[in-house]
Amino acid sequence: MSLISEIEPLKNAGLSELAAATDLQALDAARVQYLGANGRFTALMKQLGALSKEERPAAGKLINTAKGELEAALAARRGELELRAALPKDPTDMTLPGRRRPLGRLHPLTQVTEDIVRSFRRLGFAVADGPEVEDEYHCFDALNTPADHPARDLQDTFYLNTPKRPLLRTHTSSVQIRVMEKQRPPIRVIVPGRVYRRDNADATHNPTFHQIEGLYVDRGVTVGDLKGTVEFVFRELLGPDVKLRFRPHYFSYTEPSYEIDFTNALVKKLGKDWMEIAGCGIVHPQVFETVGYDPEEWSGWAFGFGIERLAMLRYGVNDIRLFYENDVRFLGQF
Ligand code: DAH
Repeated sequence: MSLISEIEPLKNAGLSELAAATDLQALDAARVQYLGANGRFTALMKQLGALSKEERPAAGKLINTAKGELEAALAARRGELELRAALPKDPTDMTLPGRRRPLGRLHPLTQVTEDIVRSFRRLGFAVADGPEVEDEYHCFDALNTPADHPARDLQDTFYLNTPKRPLLRTHTSSVQIRVMEKQRPPIRVIVPGRVYRRDNADATHNPTFHQIEGLYVDRGVTVGDLKGTVEFVFRELLGPDVKLRFRPHYFSYTEPSYEIDFTNALVKKLGKDWMEIAGCGIVHPQVFETVGYDPEEWSGWAFGFGIERLAMLRYGVNDIRLFYENDVRFLGQF
């Protein structure tokens, strides 16, 4: 058999051995056997000398091409086997259901608050914050609430037993003052936060609960803006069937003042026509004077509503105390 006719069969034999190697050792053995310094292709090279001068270059070229093919096949097979070696012996069955640890979740009051905040942000409101331990000035005086107002009574407000008589804020309205002390108009803020009142706990009352305050100050602000804004947010929160009604009321820091009643299918389901959800009004000029805004130039509205009541309505919860007991069987349902 001539040397040239041996090349192709030898290459094919090499290729099938490389393909048959099932681990890296077998592969290396095949490499040594065919491509090693003492391997079968080297042996073939050594026989080139026996060929005639004319035949030698072509034969040398054929051998080199065949070796090149084997080397490429070797590298490819090595890649495959290395990958296989890196995989776990017991391959993972990706179709098996996962093991899941129960994850925590947001408290229903947090969920409602975040939804409301998200809606207001879309209207350009920023979130502001203030202290829960407040002074009388920010909670009452600056809000035009006189010293003999019942809200300031020891019966209604938790006072701390310290010299300057700080208190636990009874509403988030105190933050209106803190914001206006720090910023010039225009102002668009909402203030979610915890408030405290001396109430006994029952199905609809708790000594601590949550409110969201809103304050909007600009030139030429109207009750229409207020109604449109609150309506937008409540429709986002509780559905497009929400209707609002403004009833005249009294708050010392707004004039005129209103209570907002609202209704939708959820309210009807409770057998009621309307539900009272918020206080609001046009910011009283005296409040602007107190924080140093010119009431001739600036106008504004404010509102405050309780979060628990909305959460109870949204989720069909009939006892406010459930929100504070932190029973995971309750909390896990939201
Ligand atoms: N602070 C009132 C409350 O706790 C709610 C309220 C009424 C807030 C009128 C306001 C407002 O900003 O303008 O019942």
